Amino acid sequence: MLDPLDLKRIDHIRMFVGNARQSAYFYRNAFGFQVTDYAGLETGSRQEAAYVLRQGKITLVLVSPITPDHPESSRLVRHGDGVRTIALEVADVQAAYDAALARGAESASPPQTIEDQGGVYITAEIKAYGDTTHAFVDRSRYKGFAPSFKPLDPDRYSAGTFHPVGLAAIDHIVANVEEGRMSEWVNFYSKVLGFSTLVSFDDKDISTEHSALMSKVVADGKGRIKFPINEPAKGRRRSQIDEFLDFYGGPGVQHIALATGDIIASVRAMAANDVSFLRVPSTYYEMLPERVGSIKEDIAELAELGILVDRDEEGYLLQIFTKPVADRPTLFFEIIQRRGARSFGKGNFKALFEAIEREQSRRGTL
Ligand code: FE2
Repeated sequence: MLDPLDLKRIDHIRMFVGNARQSAYFYRNAFGFQVTDYAGLETGSRQEAAYVLRQGKITLVLVSPITPDHPESSRLVRHGDGVRTIALEVADVQAAYDAALARGAESASPPQTIEDQGGVYITAEIKAYGDTTHAFVDRSRYKGFAPSFKPLDPDRYSAGTFHPVGLAAIDHIVANVEEGRMSEWVNFYSKVLGFSTLVSFDDKDISTEHSALMSKVVADGKGRIKFPINEPAKGRRRSQIDEFLDFYGGPGVQHIALATGDIIASVRAMAANDVSFLRVPSTYYEMLPERVGSIKEDIAELAELGILVDRDEEGYLLQIFTKPVADRPTLFFEIIQRRGARSFGKGNFKALFEAIEREQSRRGTL
């Protein structure tokens, strides 16, 4: 059955971070998110502080434990900052949760209906790879973000320090899992969520002198939710996936790809806000016209900003990757603009992975 859980969209991404107040400042000032809502002691949240960040259709929630005995404090020691939950909007939480369990999912939290002055908010959670979960959310009868959240104090930030960058939507969210376990998770998404496999890459597509990886992309029937899943393949040395698994302490979200309608403007604004991006050698741009043919953008401008281009049968795409956003070489972001292409930049893998390996080499983890 296609779309057995009746998933509508990615509602939000919930990240656990060491210091949500400071992370919110970073994602606001560097990535151009508006901080809209807050939960903490002042709003009756006794265990954790949380900030809701919005840009276009993207919602991130940054959460930090504020008590020593918060049940998930140990998650931060193990993983560092990272994605805890990918929340999916559904029409009927109980039905989605029951269907998921019947199809083989493990429960992380049974359905809960919370009523307050904002209305009725319903949510449940199932386990995914590592300590990551998927939440099901029904907010159709709720006004505001979620119970215990209040609109952020308007005096918290001064308007002059905010520079929007034009990010519009979540394009895809990538998981890294252990060697030999990619198929298991592809099966999970197929069996439990009814996703199908869009594309797969093997170590012949994605290998460099040092590392190789395998990847499959699973997606919902409407193509709104796309989750590539990577596993390391045996390389000569340690791949970037091995490095992630070591420093994250297991499988987890490797990168979040955010779509923009104007990547040149977005990347220019983010770079001005001090976001660090991976760079490929300038020779990449010498070969570009031959590789991708005619494109609307000025290649000199793409080269200046470090934006990559790839073409498939349907069109082309432009993409760029940030360096990891915290001190561990784990979570990073991709900025992507699609001009018809529905693929993931396979033609850039080699140049990109060599750029990542130069970073790994600087970290002594290659
Ligand atoms: Fe990606």
